[in-house]
Amino acid sequence: MSQKVSRIGVLTSGGDSPGMNAAIRAVVRTGIYHKLEVCGIMRGYNGMVEDEIIEMNSRSVANIIQRGGTILKTARSKDFFEQPGRFKAYENLKKRGINGLVIIGGDGSFRGAQQFSNEFDIPCIGLPGTIDKDIAGTDFTIGFDTAVNTAVEAIDKIRDTADAHDRLFIVEVMGRDAGYIALHSGIACGAENILIPETKTNINELIRTLTEKEKRKKLVNLIVVAEGDEFGGATEVSKVIKERLPNADIRVCILGHIQRGGSPTCLDRLIASRMGYHAVESLISGRYNVMVGIVNNKMNYIPLDDAVKQKQKINNEWLRIVKILAS
Ligand code: F6P
Repeated sequence: MSQKVSRIGVLTSGGDSPGMNAAIRAVVRTGIYHKLEVCGIMRGYNGMVEDEIIEMNSRSVANIIQRGGTILKTARSKDFFEQPGRFKAYENLKKRGINGLVIIGGDGSFRGAQQFSNEFDIPCIGLPGTIDKDIAGTDFTIGFDTAVNTAVEAIDKIRDTADAHDRLFIVEVMGRDAGYIALHSGIACGAENILIPETKTNINELIRTLTEKEKRKKLVNLIVVAEGDEFGGATEVSKVIKERLPNADIRVCILGHIQRGGSPTCLDRLIASRMGYHAVESLISGRYNVMVGIVNNKMNYIPLDDAVKQKQKINNEWLRIVKILAS
């Protein structure tokens, strides 16, 4: 890439996450500060393929920092994952003079960006925007903190009613391939068991601990399960417990998409603003095809490829804490 960036496009792709708007705002305003022209690409990569692209200015991102969702809309584009779709997208960008891209999304979105930048001469920067926190090279992803806090608020309420009735509640949180929402919200809510895709779920052990707790007259139990746990979600877990402990009074609650919405927390607004600012600075300084993350409170840049290939590792200390504190 020889040409300097002068006109950039920003898009949100994949599942939305609270804080995406704050990131869009930061990209637009930093771009304008540096005298770049900034365009908003609608509905993820679909907007590139279908030429749904709008001019943006400082005012287009006014009053959005506190809003969930994404003003640019989002999608999981099938067309962009085929070569003819990407070619069409490239032609549209070329026609409009867009010579730099900021993609806010998760691993699927980065895979698309990586492929696109390998094939065409358009520098890309990725910002991790997903509630799942399943991306390497960053301590936080935009939206994770809000999603976890939403889950915590909900689980606390469930605990009240579980306690009133001496019930066992199985709460399912989001996380198709990752257990971070389950782990963080589970520890924060004092869950007795946390089932996540990264560790093998031992149902016999789970039944044993429940039986042992019953003997100790500990009747209120909260199990938090990530939707992607290899054993299954809350419904499957409750079914097997019911078979093995027919007297248990069990209820299931699936939190679902409530975790994806809402006003972003202060942390999500801050990381989105920092990442958005550094995405533009990075494009200007010629550091391309990287994801901008934050590690130990410092900006961290890793190749888009590594962000999708590597996974964050679950800290064993956390698993030990779950076990010890849940007695
Ligand atoms: O990737 C974020 C996520 O919220 C996952 O946790 C969840 O499995 C998935 O998106 C749901 O996607 P959709 O909204 O397309 O059903």
